[in-house]
Amino acid sequence: MNKLLVIPTAIALLAACSQEPQTLEPPKAAGNAEAGKLIAEAECSGCHGADGHGVAPGIPHLAGQPVAYLEKALADYEAGIRTHAALQDLTARLDDQQQLDLAAWYASLPPTTVTDGHHLQLTSYEQGEQLAATCASCHGERGNSVMAGVPSLAGQQPLYFMAATQAYLHGTRDMSGMEETVRGLSKTDIEKLALFYASQTPLPREAPTYGDPAAGQPLSASCGGCHGASGVSHDAATPSLAGQDPDYLVKATQDYRGHVRQHEVMFGEKTDADIRNIAAYYAVQAPRAAEDEPMSAEKLTRSCDRCHGPGVEVAGMAVPRLNGQDRDYLIMSLRAYRDDKRESTMMHKMSLPYSDSMIEAVATRYANRPPE
Ligand code: HEC
Ligand code: HEC
Ligand code: HEC
Ligand code: HEC
Repeated sequence: MNKLLVIPTAIALLAACSQEPQTLEPPKAAGNAEAGKLIAEAECSGCHGADGHGVAPGIPHLAGQPVAYLEKALADYEAGIRTHAALQDLTARLDDQQQLDLAAWYASLPPTTVTDGHHLQLTSYEQGEQLAATCASCHGERGNSVMAGVPSLAGQQPLYFMAATQAYLHGTRDMSGMEETVRGLSKTDIEKLALFYASQTPLPREAPTYGDPAAGQPLSASCGGCHGASGVSHDAATPSLAGQDPDYLVKATQDYRGHVRQHEVMFGEKTDADIRNIAAYYAVQAPRAAEDEPMSAEKLTRSCDRCHGPGVEVAGMAVPRLNGQDRDYLIMSLRAYRDDKRESTMMHKMSLPYSDSMIEAVATRYANRPPE
C-alpha cells in the first residue's frame, strides 16, 4: 500500500533518469537464420512455437525481437544473470555461434497479431473513478462535499484515506451511514479510491456562519507541524485540513477531545469556541491535492515508450520490444525487476515503485498493441 507514496518519486526518477547505456559486446560474427531454424525446431518450438509465438501464457514471444536483445538474453541465461532452469540448461549446451544463429532466426520472423482475450484494462485510477460514483451522493462530485457534516475527500492524503476507510471496515470508527457503500470494498478497491481522490482538485470554501478564522489561526500554531502550513499536509498518513467541511472539522475534533477517536494531540484544553475558530480557520485555507496529477497507465506507458515505443532505437542499448508481447510474461518480468529477481539497473529503477495493479495495466496496454 505504500506503493502509492512513491508514485511522485517514480515520476521524478523517470524524469531524472540519466540514460546509463548498457554497453553491448563488440560486434560478433553474424548469426545464420537457416541454421538457427533447425535448432529452434528441435529445442525451442515446444515452448516458443514454430512461428516464435509463446505457446502458453507466461512464455515470451520471440518473433521480431531485435537481434541484439535476443543475443543478450541468451548470453544472460548462460551466464546465470537471468535465471530460468530450462533456458540455463539449453544455453549451457549451445555454443556462441548456435546462440547467434537462434537469435538471427527469431529476429527474422514476422511478429503476428495475437488476440490474448484481455481487453484493454481500466487503469487503477479509472477503476477508482468508477468506484467513487457510489460515494458521490454524500461526498460530492469528485470528492468535493457540499453536504454539511460530510468531509471532502478530494485531494486527501492517500495513506490517511486508506487508514480511515479500513477503520470503518474494522469497526474502530463509527460508520454513520456509510455501511452499504463501504462494506463491499476490497483492499485494492480502497487503494484505487485513494489514488483517485488524492489527485482530485479540492475546491475552496466560504467561511462558515460560526467561528472566526482570524482567532483560529494562532490556536492552530501547534497543528501545522503535522497538518502542514495552512492545513495542506505533505505527509501521506496525515490528513489535510485546508478547505475541509467546517461542521466535520468541529465534529472530528470533538470526537478526539471526547476520546471517541484517538489522536496524538490533547484537545481537552480546547473549548468549543476554540474548536469552532480552528474549524473556521482551516475551512477557508486554500486546499491543494496530495497528488499533482492522476497517475494513469497511459502516462506511464508514454514514459516507457522513450525506449520501448514503436520504432524507437536507443543507441548502445539492447531494448526488447514490448508491443504485442505476452501479457503474463510482461507482468512476470516487471515484477522480477521490481522484486530484484532480474538484473537491470535501468529497469529496476523504472519498475521498482509500481503496484501490482499498475504493472498489470501497463502490461495489458503493451500486450494489446499491434506488434511491430
Ligand atoms: C520449457 C519451455 C522453454 C523452452 C524449451 C525454451 N524456452 Fe525460452 N523461455 C521460456 C520461458 C518460460 C521464458 C521466460 C523466462 C524468464 O522469465 O526469464 C523464456 C525466455 C526466453 C528468452 C528471453 C525473452 C525475452 O523477451 O527476454 C529467449 C531469448 C528465449 N527464451 C530463447 C529460447 C531459445 C533460443 C530456446 C531453444 C534453444 C528456448 N528459449 C527454449 C520457455 C522455454
Ligand atoms: C450516506 C452518506 C455517505 C456515503 C454514501 C459515503 N460516505 Fe463516507 N462519510 C460519510 C460521513 C457522514 C462521514 C463522516 C463520518 C465521521 O464523522 O467519522 C464520512 C467519512 C468518510 C471518510 C473519512 C474522511 C476523513 O477525513 O476522515 C472516508 C475515507 C470515507 N467517508 C470514504 C467513503 C467512501 C470511499 C465512500 C464510497 C464507497 C463513502 N465514504 C460513501 C458519509 C457517507
Ligand atoms: C503529532 C502530529 C499531529 C499534530 C500536532 C496534530 N495532528 Fe491532527 N491529525 C494527525 C494525524 C496522524 C491524524 C489522523 C488520525 C486518525 O487517523 O484519526 C490527525 C487527524 C486530525 C483531524 C481529523 C481529520 C479528518 O479528515 O478526519 C483533525 C480535525 C485534526 N487532526 C485536527 C488537529 C488540530 C486542530 C491540531 C492542532 C490543535 C492537530 N490536529 C494537531 C496528526 C497531528
Ligand atoms: C531508458 C530506456 C528504458 C526505459 C525508459 C524503460 N525501459 Fe524497459 N527495458 C530497457 C532495457 C535496456 C531492457 C532490457 C534489460 C535486460 O536485458 O534485462 C528493458 C526490459 C524491459 C522488459 C523485459 C522485456 C522482456 O522481453 O524480457 C519489460 C517488461 C520492460 N522493460 C518494461 C518497461 C516499462 C513498463 C517501462 C516504463 C515504466 C520501461 N520498461 C522503461 C530499457 C528501458
